[in-house]
Amino acid sequence: LCNHFSSGPLSGVRVLLTAGPTREPIDPVRFIGNRSSGKMGFALARAFVSAGATVELVAGPVSLATPAGVARFDVETAREMEQKVLDRVTECDIFVGCAAVADYRPEVVADQKIKKNNEQMEIHLVRNNDILATVAALSKAPFTVGFAAETQAPETYAEKKRIAKKIDMIAANLVGASEGGFERDENALTLLWEGGQKRLPLADKGMLAEQLVTLITERYENRYP
Ligand code: CTP
Ligand code: CA
Repeated sequence: LCNHFSSGPLSGVRVLLTAGPTREPIDPVRFIGNRSSGKMGFALARAFVSAGATVELVAGPVSLATPAGVARFDVETAREMEQKVLDRVTECDIFVGCAAVADYRPEVVADQKIKKNNEQMEIHLVRNNDILATVAALSKAPFTVGFAAETQAPETYAEKKRIAKKIDMIAANLVGASEGGFERDENALTLLWEGGQKRLPLADKGMLAEQLVTLITERYENRYP
């Protein structure tokens, strides 16, 4: 992707994002998924392009058009997402983990459709790697930004995640029932970093993405003046 002539505050800066859900197969016709629409990540990708960045997007299964100027890689599982991120991360300056990555996957994927033989059945799950924490722990880690999707106390949980994963910034996001977040066109966030935070009230995800990019740019420039 040639973006040498772009202008804007992030001209020459390479951004890698993840977006959407992942799907963890159970058998050839079933999977474990989640309610992420990918809209926030795609809106962010678009806003980063508007700010002049070179943007690559690793997307889980979503039904969204690729924003103009974005190089998109489609993946399905958490492990495919991790592999693609690790392939591309050395080429980026800012990494934004917006995807709702499955925390667990079925240990065994049945090679034929599972039949309903019993009254109950169990699927044994094993942990997926944490892509965001893995990126943040790289020796030449990019500036890293995460999202925390919570159904309660979003800022408290998000701050714990920011510190535990050693990431530069985290956007705390209340999800579920009547709030913004998953499956919605609007969202409200609190962006947290070491020594500061900013509340971004309920707004269209496109507007919110522009505000997030402005704040991320400020902190990024502060880290690499
Ligand atoms: N994340 C990731 N890889 C995973 C799980 C999460 O990269 N295997 C990233 C998400 O993209 C997000 C951040 O970590 O940016 C937080 O995800 P979240 O699900 O809110 O937090 P977890 O650390 O998975 O904790 P929990 O689900 O237990 O709340
Ligand atoms: Ca999780």
